[in-house]
Amino acid sequence: RRTEVPASASGCPVDHSRLTSPTGCPVSANAAAFDPFTGPYQEDPPGSLRWSRDEEPVFYSPELGYWVITRYEDVKAVFRDNETFSPANVLEKITPFGDEANAVLAKYDYAMGRTLVNEDEPAHMPRRRALMEPFTPPALAHHEPMVRRLVREHVDRFIDRGKAELVDEMLYEIPLTVALHFLGVPEEDMDTLRKYSVAHTLNTWGRPAPEEQVAVAENVGKFWQYAGKVLDKMREDPSQPGWMQYGIRLQPEMPDIITDSYLHSMMMAGIVAAHETTALAATNAIKLLLENRTLWEEICADPSLIANAVEECLRHSGSIIAWRRVATKDTKIGDIEIPEGGKLLIVNTSANHDERFFDEPDELDIRRENASDHLSFGYGSHQCMGKNLARMEIQIFLEELTTRIPHLELVPDQEFTYLPNTSFRGPERLWVQWDPAKNPERTNPEILDRQLKIKIGQPSKRSLTRTMEVREVVAEADDIVRITLADVHGRQLPTWSPGSHVDLELGELSRQYSLCGDPADRSSYQIAVLKDPESRGGSRFVHEQLSVGDTVPMRGPRNHFKLDSDAERYLFIAGGIGITPILAMADHARREGKDYEFHYCGSTRSAMAFLDRAVRDHGDRLVLHVSDEGTRLDVESLLAEPREDTQIYSCGPQRLLDALADATAHWPEESLRVEHFSSDLGELDPEKEHAFDLKLADSGITVRVAADQTVLAALRAANIDVPSDCEEGLCGSCEVGVSEGEVDHRDKVLTKSERALDNKMMTCCSRACGSALTLEL
Ligand code: HEM
Ligand code: FES
Repeated sequence: RRTEVPASASGCPVDHSRLTSPTGCPVSANAAAFDPFTGPYQEDPPGSLRWSRDEEPVFYSPELGYWVITRYEDVKAVFRDNETFSPANVLEKITPFGDEANAVLAKYDYAMGRTLVNEDEPAHMPRRRALMEPFTPPALAHHEPMVRRLVREHVDRFIDRGKAELVDEMLYEIPLTVALHFLGVPEEDMDTLRKYSVAHTLNTWGRPAPEEQVAVAENVGKFWQYAGKVLDKMREDPSQPGWMQYGIRLQPEMPDIITDSYLHSMMMAGIVAAHETTALAATNAIKLLLENRTLWEEICADPSLIANAVEECLRHSGSIIAWRRVATKDTKIGDIEIPEGGKLLIVNTSANHDERFFDEPDELDIRRENASDHLSFGYGSHQCMGKNLARMEIQIFLEELTTRIPHLELVPDQEFTYLPNTSFRGPERLWVQWDPAKNPERTNPEILDRQLKIKIGQPSKRSLTRTMEVREVVAEADDIVRITLADVHGRQLPTWSPGSHVDLELGELSRQYSLCGDPADRSSYQIAVLKDPESRGGSRFVHEQLSVGDTVPMRGPRNHFKLDSDAERYLFIAGGIGITPILAMADHARREGKDYEFHYCGSTRSAMAFLDRAVRDHGDRLVLHVSDEGTRLDVESLLAEPREDTQIYSCGPQRLLDALADATAHWPEESLRVEHFSSDLGELDPEKEHAFDLKLADSGITVRVAADQTVLAALRAANIDVPSDCEEGLCGSCEVGVSEGEVDHRDKVLTKSERALDNKMMTCCSRACGSALTLEL
């Protein structure tokens, strides 16, 4: 299975021919050379493990004594199964201390125990459930004004200076203050706890040299003692706000779940969980965006991009780059056997750069649609409880800096240093500079009133706009213009499939247009727009106001009208401007060498867009139906004979679609597919709906869905991330797997036969028929 490299061949002094893993597998040269404390892993963690993702996604590191897991699917699977892969070791010291340092810890009665992150079932879930409420979006909303005030005050201190080291002056301090407030630490104890907290990282995830160990242990011991004192003080008045007080208040009701050991350990571990993770993630994000200047400028111009930019930065350069588990039984990951007791280093950052899951993973793309599928917050029943507090903090940092110092830049040629450890990553210093004379608030103090409404939770894809420039406007037919759009910064556009549309924001209006150009062309998109006398403004705006050089915000592309590639034969029927998606479909069928027939209906030739292109490219397969030439389509005779092998795709006026629906009544179900731009879902009527439970298989919790609530809303209120876009049952982005229960499907995405399987559902609109559903979440 593995390549053995004898010592002489690799030039390495270690005799690899004698290195084997605990299961007897020989250790490859790359695996033997893996050292997470120095060299390539410290310089570029995901890049240094590319070889592993490609060749050896699960390997044993003799240097560390851990199995290292590097691919997205494997990392996620390990997170998901917290019974086979216990988190008991996540707060263990990765480099065991020597006797002297251990004696120091003993002197302070140091006894870090199980908190949440390192607790096994069945103790963990009841504790997590009991302590979740303060992390839900409505509870977190109370902290937003404090975070914003802190950021404002810190920026005020340096904004007129023109140069700052952001870690020291803001990014370290604020998440710590927020963490201490969130936990409920009294103001007077904040400074002392602040002093001790850094020792913990090095203690747990670093490799302090023997002479440093004693000093680290002293600090850790004092931190432990002080945490105990603060806790005692909190117990004196547990009515105060704070997550620790919330736990103290619950203790009498559930003494076996909220134990004394839990409270003392969490008092210390909670600071680290909430502080350094967020401080480092914010530092990484600001550094990354300033290094990718056009992206920084884009978020300055359009702050609605910030929420997804935060996710993309967490994906690209998260602050927790590796986490741990220990196998509770002999098991396998892929074809590699892991023995009981085997320790695992699961490298989240490598998973986040796995090209098997993320396209162009090394690129920073703030509009990446699946950015929030990153594993930087872990996954499953231990997934970070504080993720939405962290997201909120990083969003506010970016929002304030891009508003107040958009001309911020990195001080050139600075060297970035990192605290050498396996898991926490972010530069220790981040020097930035700007010209204070250009601070926008000097000439326009009103910018300080601009405040974005922070959406707590996972960002919506709806916020992902891209600024497009109109490159060409051409009269395509009577009252129809063809418009070519390109990214204003000249960047490549996302790929699209036939049937896709984009949403253009035209003044106050948002309008959807199907793409009809060449999908292989990543530099521009084409749409065609009919001037509609009934127009509520969209088509009139395009015809009367849009000209070459204008910019338009665009969302998408997205596809609610997908071509089923398994069909043997297609029948395409376009009416009028409905040609746009149909032409893209017919082009695709031709390129793929599929059997198809293409009917194009119009009132008169001069009003039929793309007529020459359709005739040129589709030859005999194309049948034109032109009313004023007396060749109107006879729907009934065309569809008289039902065919099992044929799928019909149509777009056009409603009366054409109605006629097709009638004429295909005797065809196999799902033969006719039409474009849906809007849905007929109304508001949920609690009189007609019923409440039900969602059992979440991966997270181990049950979530109640109220009669007037969507499944999506109930999941989000319970801190479970589910992506969404249209929230009208049209786009498919909120799909989740269903393993038990009957679904009341209300979307327009799934076909009848997919619905019948009941193995997936659209959470934005579909519900349970009965009293419960089990979801793969
Ligand atoms: C757990 C990362 C911020 C509280 C975790 C885990 C990771 C993580 C990787 C383990 C997940 C797993 O085992 O599946 C991060 C990152 C943060 C962040 C990258 C910032 C960017 C916070 C904040 C808080 C917090 C601000 C508290 C206010 C927790 C708690 C757990 C946890 C309580 C344990 C959950 C459990 O085991 O049930 N976090 N975290 N985290 N985090 Fe965070
Ligand atoms: Fe679009 Fe649910 S979000 S189908």
